[in-house]
Amino acid sequence: MDGYFITFEGGEGSGKSSILKSAEQKLQNLGYDVLTTREPGGIEIAEKVRDIILDPVHTAMDARTEALLYAAARRQHLTEKILPALKKGKIVLCDRFVDSSLAYQGFARGLGIDEVFSINQFAIQDLMPDLTLFFDIEPKEGLARIKANKDRERNRLDFENIRFHEQVYEAYQLLVSKFPDRIQVMNADQPFAQVETDTVKYIDSYLKKIK
Ligand code: TMP
Repeated sequence: MDGYFITFEGGEGSGKSSILKSAEQKLQNLGYDVLTTREPGGIEIAEKVRDIILDPVHTAMDARTEALLYAAARRQHLTEKILPALKKGKIVLCDRFVDSSLAYQGFARGLGIDEVFSINQFAIQDLMPDLTLFFDIEPKEGLARIKANKDRERNRLDFENIRFHEQVYEAYQLLVSKFPDRIQVMNADQPFAQVETDTVKYIDSYLKKIK
């Protein structure tokens, strides 16, 4: 594969989605051929699965069903969009990927990180990100940011209690220690412009080092 696959991870209100959008522009200005996308979603089929998973009305959804739907959306997204872009040599920036399933479904929902990894392995067939940036902010700070942002869509997982979001945070810390070579921690508890600068600088130096 000629391209590079970079994923952005973090809890609610970590700012990763806005950072991803602005990083795309800044990296393009530096001459990189960048494609941005998101999970769950990124293509029509997976966006439809996203609507089903995140609809606040679907309170009856079983945790395993949730995990399988995320994995199904991921599979389609990977084959239809991510892999073709990597084959063309693009830098793919993806808002969330398999680590989200490990943190949210594996740990916070209690299904088990290894178990959730194994259903995802069926979907991804060893295609792990080259680099993952974890946008680190305490859950209560992230949730306060969400509350303050009236324009943000509210999804089913936003309605989980603080304990759930603390478990997601704890899971990310576990993943950081499990995959220290792949996951880089970014301090997200700073002004937007600073996080944006840190992110672009980190990706640029990573790509220069690895190319
Ligand atoms: P977003 O708010 O970053 O767009 O993500 C949508 C929600 O889906 C968010 O609450 C995290 C959750 N999620 C999972 O629980 N598992 C996954 O595998 C993914 C990709 C997202």
